[in-house]
Amino acid sequence: MDIGLSRNLNPQYLAWWHQRYARQAEWTRALRFHLYRRLEIARRKNILEIGCGTGVITGELAGRTDSTIFGLDNNAAALRLARIKGSNKGPIWIAGKAEKLPFGDESLDLIITHYFWLWVGHPDIVCNECRRVLKKGGKLAALAEPDYSARQDLPGCQPSIKEFLINDLTKKGADPAMGKKLESIFATAGFKATGGSVGDKTTFEQNPELFRQEWELLHKLGYPRQVLESTEIMTVGRGMIMPVHWAIGRKM
Ligand SMILES: C[S@@+](CC[C@H](N)C(=O)[O-])C[C@H]1O[C@@H](n2cnc3c(N)ncnc32)[C@H](O)[C@@H]1O
Repeated sequence: MDIGLSRNLNPQYLAWWHQRYARQAEWTRALRFHLYRRLEIARRKNILEIGCGTGVITGELAGRTDSTIFGLDNNAAALRLARIKGSNKGPIWIAGKAEKLPFGDESLDLIITHYFWLWVGHPDIVCNECRRVLKKGGKLAALAEPDYSARQDLPGCQPSIKEFLINDLTKKGADPAMGKKLESIFATAGFKATGGSVGDKTTFEQNPELFRQEWELLHKLGYPRQVLESTEIMTVGRGMIMPVHWAIGRKM
């Protein structure tokens, strides 16, 4: 599950989110590594992650290629932590806005994002910026973007976890259903777009740790404690479906 970082500069708060993003990246690892191969990342000379947060994905890329890697975010506190966690051969961190990328026209081979677009108020503006800075044939890749509108918790709980999360994200200015819209947003912006999704049912038996983490986050967000602590909530037989979409746009 993804919930974005506020401007809170408290180091403990930030460290908690860094850990959260690292776990989130574990859940999307298989999809991401499949897309890395498809995108031939080893052949790309320069790669930018927009909305890099605390640098979990940017750092991973730096460890997997000899490319020049940039991580850009508009949250200075998150970038500070990314710098501390980054390796020596680390990426170049940039404080900046996706809507005004500090790169020249046709200067990048690949732009990637991970749990980013739901937080973007005007994805069309960001897409246009990406098209501007990508070389011809360059690619814009959303490696994972959630669709909370298709979330299912089985059996259901009261209040509904899906509705609780959708309300929380909407209040914070995010678009909870962004995942399923992304491929068509890329196409409308003039990219040759492809996309898909993953999201099989995960059961408590398969991955109790995933449920423990979800419940920890729900608690942090204010979901009623008595429901989270009820005996039937963390049991064998509980399942969750949380679809995650990917999309790739090629600049023609
Ligand atoms: C949910 S976090 C994901 C972080 C990272 N991609 C990961 O998966 O670990 C989304 C990040 O996007 C950044 N962000 C949101 N809107 C942005 C914008 N318009 N320009 C730059 N960064 C933005 C936020 O500050 C936040 O760090």
